[in-house]
Amino acid sequence: MMKKLRKAVFPVAGMGTRFLPATKVIPKEVLTLVDRPLIQYAIDEARAAGIDEFIFVTARGKSALEDYFDRAPELESSLRDKGKNDLLEALKASEMPSGAIAYVRQQEALGLGHAVWCARRLIGDEPFVVMLPDDVIAAEKPCLQQMVEAYDEKPGNYVAVMGVPRELTKQYGVFDLDPWDGDRARAKGMVEKPEPEDAPSNYAAIGRYILQPSVMDELRKFKKGAGGEIQLTDAIADRITAGDPVYGYRFAGRRFDCGSKVGYLQATVAFGLARDDLRDDFAAYLAEYMGFMNAAE
Ligand code: G1P
Repeated sequence: MMKKLRKAVFPVAGMGTRFLPATKVIPKEVLTLVDRPLIQYAIDEARAAGIDEFIFVTARGKSALEDYFDRAPELESSLRDKGKNDLLEALKASEMPSGAIAYVRQQEALGLGHAVWCARRLIGDEPFVVMLPDDVIAAEKPCLQQMVEAYDEKPGNYVAVMGVPRELTKQYGVFDLDPWDGDRARAKGMVEKPEPEDAPSNYAAIGRYILQPSVMDELRKFKKGAGGEIQLTDAIADRITAGDPVYGYRFAGRRFDCGSKVGYLQATVAFGLARDDLRDDFAAYLAEYMGFMNAAE
């Protein structure tokens, strides 16, 4: 019997240097898109896909993340006294059932693969999800849910993929894929951050993974890869070589790279415009501002 997917690992130990000086005191995962921290989007997506155990791989300086998912009794009672029910309702998104969330620390920044390996005891002998909160995906049906449905139909390891311009392959894990079978294509290989001329395709891994516990056995070998780091991509590539089914999954949706400043700004515009309470005012402002910029040219 195939084990149900219940657990998700959120590697959130990164220093977020691209957002310095803000990230000197604020973990990048709590930077806000409109009025919610980035991590909230990932958590909502995981919940929609049926995940009910959340494992955060954190590091020093990330305590704001833990506080975010804790109760805030003074704030709650003050809002209740003032009858601010809409704000009390907004707080609910960050509520977690007791024991649903666990934190493990990655003491040294040894790479994404190492971060995932840090969660091994909490994962045990179960398939699991990895979600990179920097990758925010706007989709009618949440991306992870699309992947879980594909997985339920045909078990294996799954990685979200997206076509990227050739010149950008060195920012991603890149797949060598068999022909597409619907939105799924079996992987023949995977390489981390190849130069465009060495890239097997332009299909890049995006931060949503469904993995079998055998990937942990590869990570445990501590093999150093691109950038001298222990790479999740390499562990997955080794499972492909071992004959395990690994699929690239072409999701429906729009991905924002919130690990980069431009991507984060684009996401702010898109998520602002997607909100019923903000759309009209914000769109009017953007139109006016663009007109002003064009006139100034
Ligand atoms: C990580 C992975 C890479 C993947 C990317 C997706 O890279 O190592 O394989 O394509 O996330 O966002 P990073 O962005 O941490 O350099």
